Amino acid sequence: MALASVLLQIGTLGLVVFITQCVLAYLRSPLKKIPGPFLAKFSDLWRLFNAYEKKHITTQLQLHEKYGDYVQLGPNVVSVADPSLVKTIYSTRGTFLKSDFYAINDAMQDGKIIQNIFGTRSNEFHSKYIRPVQKLYTFQSVKEYEPVMAQSLTTFFQELESRFVDGANQGKTCDIADWISYLTWDILGEMTFSKPFGFMEQATDVGGMLQTAEKNMDYQSVIGQMPFLDKWLAKNPRLASKFPAFAATAGFCVERFMERMQKLDQFEGKSDFMNHFLRAKEEHPTVVTDNEVIAYMIINVLGGADTTSITTKAVVYHVLKNPAVQARLVEELRAAKLSHPAPYSSLEHLPYLDACIKEGLRIHPVVGHIMERVVPSTGLALANGVTLPPGTVVGVNPWVVHRRADVYGERPNEFLPERWLQSKSESNAEFEERMKRMGDADLSFGKGNRVCLGRPLALVEMAKIVGTLFAKYEIELEDPSAEWEVHPQWFVWPHKIRVKMTRY
Ligand code: HEM
Repeated sequence: MALASVLLQIGTLGLVVFITQCVLAYLRSPLKKIPGPFLAKFSDLWRLFNAYEKKHITTQLQLHEKYGDYVQLGPNVVSVADPSLVKTIYSTRGTFLKSDFYAINDAMQDGKIIQNIFGTRSNEFHSKYIRPVQKLYTFQSVKEYEPVMAQSLTTFFQELESRFVDGANQGKTCDIADWISYLTWDILGEMTFSKPFGFMEQATDVGGMLQTAEKNMDYQSVIGQMPFLDKWLAKNPRLASKFPAFAATAGFCVERFMERMQKLDQFEGKSDFMNHFLRAKEEHPTVVTDNEVIAYMIINVLGGADTTSITTKAVVYHVLKNPAVQARLVEELRAAKLSHPAPYSSLEHLPYLDACIKEGLRIHPVVGHIMERVVPSTGLALANGVTLPPGTVVGVNPWVVHRRADVYGERPNEFLPERWLQSKSESNAEFEERMKRMGDADLSFGKGNRVCLGRPLALVEMAKIVGTLFAKYEIELEDPSAEWEVHPQWFVWPHKIRVKMTRY
């Protein structure tokens, strides 16, 4: 009895100390003038559960609707929806470093943490390792890969035709979402090491790579809200095997590298990324080692395949959901009398195709969380008079800023490619001013010194896939009233776009 009473007293005392600490932390917090959910003042746990429940996008949209441009998401975390701060937070000088959210992307090797160009929080590391390969990703360089894309696209259309369009399979339902994933992964395999992963050939998720990538992003989406937990979970050698890892994809890349080393003469003259990375190793021997060549290959595949497939699916789905848009797009494409697969030179000047892709990127950005950065020593002055102190984690969620009617015009929740075109009543100067406003707030590829390295590659690839698909086939949703499936995580994954296709 006496022991129970002592334990009760200790428990009560502990609770009182904990509550006092929370209240003091709240009273002293430099963020107390930023509105937000009550629990966010004291702990990041609520946002971890919110991400676990996959409600973070709707929650953040509602919070900004209720509280305005600045919302506190955690004791030290502020979500910003003010478009005038996008260029400050994501500056070309990189003064706001990536937060520990990105540490989840680090790898563990023999107990050591290995960073990469995507996840690193260091500007020195970033510029040292990106410099040797940056030139490979310009629009000019990317055009070199068009024949490879065309080869994979030809396989894609042959597979679709034999499985869903021709002969006994005519009129069969195709889940085009799956097939777009197979295509984008195989294209990146071809471009990176002259070998597809084999998704299209086997018509399946080879080695579970697609599923693993999605599970991995789910882990990052949730644990990234309290990143110190990663050390106790996936980075804990005793538990690591229980968490999804990119082992199959990384293994595939390592195998390709070993094969290349053994058959260098067989691959001589091949203009794939691996040969370019090996050349970068010769040009920058003190920076690029065999490990970096492999790391570049892995980043290429993991950074480029799912991102491109998610956006391509978004464009295809929204076009199909809007018959008037589809009719206008098809008219433009067919009038262009394209060859198949269409070369980028015949697609890049098609304004409606361009508008559909931009609108897909706007309405369905790949990233579903705020892209976290750390406020530098200067602090961050907000328009409401509050200055966020150094060390505060801030970020803009593309899903929030892309839906601002004052930037993107009326009906921001609707897919309206026309918003990217000049209206009849608009002067050239007005149109340019509007495009600049929309472009400045656009975070679909990030911004500043950490902007997406693969943006040109993705834009060329998406134009070729969407352009050829809608020019070549009459496509309709199996059930026009049915919605696709969307799994919001760190990336926002679409699934199940079931269509019927016939050849024009
Ligand atoms: C439509 C397709 C794509 C989208 C929407 C996209 C989106 C993004 C975004 C939003 C970021 C910034 C993330 C952040 O700051 O948190 C990013 C960074 C990056 N992306 Fe992409 N991406 C796409 C395609 C690609 C491709 C094809 C590649 C490579 C082959 C690639 C490689 C990278 C890399 C390496 C970074 C890190 C850049 C750095 O930190 O310097 N991406 N991407």
